[in-house]
Amino acid sequence: MAPPTPGATTTSSGITLNVNGEKHTLPVDHRTTLLDALRERLDLTGTKKGCDQGQCGACTVLVDGRRSLSCLQLAVAADGREITTIEGVADGDRLHPVQQAFLDLDGYQCGYCTPGQICSAIAVIEEHAAGWPSAATADVGAEAAPPLDPDEIRERMSGNLCRCGAYVSIVRAVARAAEEMQADDAAVKEAAA
Ligand code: FES
Ligand code: FES
Repeated sequence: MAPPTPGATTTSSGITLNVNGEKHTLPVDHRTTLLDALRERLDLTGTKKGCDQGQCGACTVLVDGRRSLSCLQLAVAADGREITTIEGVADGDRLHPVQQAFLDLDGYQCGYCTPGQICSAIAVIEEHAAGWPSAATADVGAEAAPPLDPDEIRERMSGNLCRCGAYVSIVRAVARAAEEMQADDAAVKEAAA
């Protein structure tokens, strides 16, 4: 993003959003949220607007691999960063393991919260694999990561609300996807050894 001219009042800037591997350069009003930029300017409507005030998690996307509530982040703050939305998590025709698990285990009803749940779950599984503790972790000093059990999943996913109450299936889907992703990682490491 170009720096503003000293003394000038600027209300918009040209930014580049790297979304799902594609660069988009666009002018945005400084007040535009990342959520509105994605939905209204780039037509990526998979990311949902629920509360628009950081309470429901429907707008969750990944920014540089970390979970972010796009309704609370200004688009200018995402300039140049790597953004992944629900439209970008599959590998071509192959669904992401978290998407497949939600589909197989009915981790949704109306589906409105689902893009945010899936983006959040992808990051949860990676955070857990990296050894990040949560408020449900009994021993934060343990050398081995605790299992991603239902208590851990519920705590780590607690920022994503589901008005349909599909929580039981969501927890099952996240647990199954985590098992699959951990098994895949182990197989890759074994093959490389
Ligand atoms: S729309 Fe962003 S948290 Fe609800
Ligand atoms: S599936 Fe309807 S809000 Fe979650």
